Amino acid sequence: MSIKRIGILTAGGDCPGLNAVVRAVSKNALKHGVEVLGFKNGFDGLVRNEFINITNHTVSGILTLGGTILGSSNIANPFNYTLPPFGSPETPRDLSSVVMHNFKENRLDALITIGGDGTLHMSQQFVDMGMPIVAVPKTIDNDLSATDQTFGFDSALAIATEAIDRLHTTAQSHHRVMIVETMGRYAGWIALRSAIAGGGDIVLIPEIPYNDDVIVNAILERKNRGKNFSLVVAAEGAKNERGEQAVARTVAGSTDAIRLGGIANKLSQMIEDKTGIESRACVLGHTQRGGTPTAFDRWLSTLYGAKAFDMVLEGKFGYMAALHAFKMTEVKISDAISNLKRVDPHGEEVRAALEVGMSFGSAEIG
Ligand code: F6P
Repeated sequence: MSIKRIGILTAGGDCPGLNAVVRAVSKNALKHGVEVLGFKNGFDGLVRNEFINITNHTVSGILTLGGTILGSSNIANPFNYTLPPFGSPETPRDLSSVVMHNFKENRLDALITIGGDGTLHMSQQFVDMGMPIVAVPKTIDNDLSATDQTFGFDSALAIATEAIDRLHTTAQSHHRVMIVETMGRYAGWIALRSAIAGGGDIVLIPEIPYNDDVIVNAILERKNRGKNFSLVVAAEGAKNERGEQAVARTVAGSTDAIRLGGIANKLSQMIEDKTGIESRACVLGHTQRGGTPTAFDRWLSTLYGAKAFDMVLEGKFGYMAALHAFKMTEVKISDAISNLKRVDPHGEEVRAALEVGMSFGSAEIG
């Protein structure tokens, strides 16, 4: 099959490196004389038929740029469409046939989707309807098991680590407990790795249920050793022993409606009440998704983008570009969405953290 025109979109929560992927896909395609249509705001662009014609000029100078020049959406789901004027949260509609129609009307030979778990699920649904799709794995959460690393994660990790470094000095000056809340949804990768890299004292992750008293004892034990400050890194999805998580809000139409958040403030109050040590919460939030990508993410995004277009030329539809042992490879999208990659509580990263004296706020682990 000869490829003349492709579409590309960026969907889900944004992250550093999206533009670098768009650039690499487009440069590779344009070099082969293939036209590239960039659909706006994820799958919403295919619902509304809103796109830009990407030229070399469009993608020039965007390698280092944060965000996405195409825009993104983590609520525009064509299979459960809630956005006005075509749908609403009360009356969601299935507009997948509109997307199929627009794909054909624009005479597209393939679509490259750049997104995380939700985008991969939608991509697979369109593959099942016959759309030729190649996917690229994006998410700061790094929770996709089919690839060694998603792009965006390294940048988020660098931002979180820098924040911990900065919070360390102020915690020390004021003899306080600082609780830093990281993103990551149901996986503790950002929290664990930034805590290891930043020398956190206590780290709470969704994979290891925490107990308030164990956290308090770890802080008091440090105080007894003359360390009158502590740094707690809490993943937004960390659970206590009763399985309770802090939920900030729910978002209608999103593939995962729950938005986590609020754990740092809760812990800060609890720690201050139980230890008598002044405590402060710092929620990193969307700063972890903003700004320029790290060198590693620029490298990884460029490899992903170049590979994704190569896969289109090879007709590898229904597949996702993946990183395995620092080499580009491909995996079925259906395999990529079948299970989340989460921290192994008995794995070597947790063991290393314990060996350098970190607490997981758990009596079971440690
Ligand atoms: O999946 C990426 C992510 O940044 C999560 O870490 C976080 O829980 C969520 O998205 C936040 O989404 P929103 O942009 O809707 O606040």
